Amino acid sequence: MTQSAASGHDRILILDFGSQVTQLIARRLREGGVYCEIWPYNAAPDRRIQEFAPRGIVLSGGPASVTEGESPRAPDAVFSSGVPVLGVCYGQQTMCAQLGGQVDVSEHREFGRAFVDVTGPCRLFEDAWEPGGREQVWMSHGDRVTALPPGFRTVGTSDATPYAIIADDERRFYGVQFHPEVAHTPHGAQLLRNFARKVCECSGDWTMAGFRAEAVERIRAQVGSGKVVCGLSGGVDSSVAAVLLHEAIGDQLTCIFVDHGLLRAGEAEEVDRTFRDRFNIRLVHRDASDVFLRGLAGTTDPEAKRKTIGNLFVEIFEEEQAKIGGADFLAQGTLYPDVVESVSVSGGPSATIKSHHNVGGLPERMRMRLVEPLRELFKDEVRALGRELGLPEAIVGRHPFPGPGLAIRILGEVTRESADILRKVDRIYLEEIRTAGLYDAIWQAFAVLLPVRSVGVMGDGRTYDQVCALRAVTSTDGMTADVYPFDMGFLTRVANRIVNEVRGVNRVTYDITSKPPGTIEWE
Ligand code: XMP
Repeated sequence: MTQSAASGHDRILILDFGSQVTQLIARRLREGGVYCEIWPYNAAPDRRIQEFAPRGIVLSGGPASVTEGESPRAPDAVFSSGVPVLGVCYGQQTMCAQLGGQVDVSEHREFGRAFVDVTGPCRLFEDAWEPGGREQVWMSHGDRVTALPPGFRTVGTSDATPYAIIADDERRFYGVQFHPEVAHTPHGAQLLRNFARKVCECSGDWTMAGFRAEAVERIRAQVGSGKVVCGLSGGVDSSVAAVLLHEAIGDQLTCIFVDHGLLRAGEAEEVDRTFRDRFNIRLVHRDASDVFLRGLAGTTDPEAKRKTIGNLFVEIFEEEQAKIGGADFLAQGTLYPDVVESVSVSGGPSATIKSHHNVGGLPERMRMRLVEPLRELFKDEVRALGRELGLPEAIVGRHPFPGPGLAIRILGEVTRESADILRKVDRIYLEEIRTAGLYDAIWQAFAVLLPVRSVGVMGDGRTYDQVCALRAVTSTDGMTADVYPFDMGFLTRVANRIVNEVRGVNRVTYDITSKPPGTIEWE
């Protein structure tokens, strides 16, 4: 195995059969201090599994049916290498089918909340469930196991599933029809932890303090005496990557912060304060707001705005890195969800790789080698690492902010005046959210400036000014989102402050559209 975050740690391998929630299995295991990786079931030849040397294997759920001819199967090594196996939903079904049991299409499908009756003791249940108990779980299946393979016993049943939880203690093979990884299975995380810690006997040595020390060694080994540039945006990922790299290689790292003039109030200053003053990192701060605003003049189409900003970003980044004499490596804050390969829903062999969220195609253009020290981490782990590295909470806990910045929150043409107006509105809104103690309960909150004027009255005079919309959503990954249910008192207080304090805005609305059908941003 090549040098990676897995080296030296007990590890679990998760084979993905295409479930929407496979990543949650990994997050739950890692929260329990156990390193794990997700591989597509069909990208795991026996030899690769042996090299990875997992202490246990989890087979995920998936949309296929084992009752159909060409359904996905777990590689032979899963059952022959002598390590414990946990099959979840489809994973349980294929395990049973492959080991001599029977799976059939069920007349009684279960989707959503369900209950299992615990009928026997099982190592998975320790500190969580007792025989005789009735426990809430989350199910999502049409097929079910109808005959157990030799060696298995039933330890849990549900109304629709006689073999809801099964165990073969000798081989240490377990199967659950429900999804322990989702929050709607209240003790699911404990069950997964029991599998990793008690059944697989993983030591639970995966901590951010450990990761920090090992990542520093890996960066040094990769970079040698080379020079590294890192594009800093002020967001969580690039900030944590920069501080980690600096700890590893000091002044071999130069961070380039391209200020496009479309940041929130005070953020550019905060980047200087944090990285240059506090961490003593070599920082090039290029104020390119004129270039960006000139480039955006007259552009109203959202995609054209994105493209202009992306192209200018690459141009200016290249200029600045040429000024410092070039570099051998480009550092990026790529995260695990961006690199994990997921099985296509058809279950076919063509695994699709999610697109990388790199900045504007930089790596292709610059032909530099990449350093991606966070590519094994989930977002919550990056935050934990940031805290470990001493980054301020204002950066570590920050809401996501889109690369094109305020440009996609100013509908229509972007001008310096409109950016200034939006920054003032946004600052008041976020100030009030923080004062009310709501910042951390919200995934993302921001204001949008609309290209609409409306009539108002202030004092004795008529106004004819712009309208702004406020947006706040809850989400776990930005893929779906719910509207944050502020109380009316909060919203009217914010609206009053905005209209009274920001010249040019005389009306405020609150966006109550979920995603889907809306998107989080307006453009
Ligand atoms: P949407 O609007 O697609 O946004 O629901 C989902 C998440 O992605 C962020 N977003 C972007 N981030 N460049 C980025 O770096 C972009 O062009 C971009 N567009 C949307 C958005 O803020 C939300 O968190």
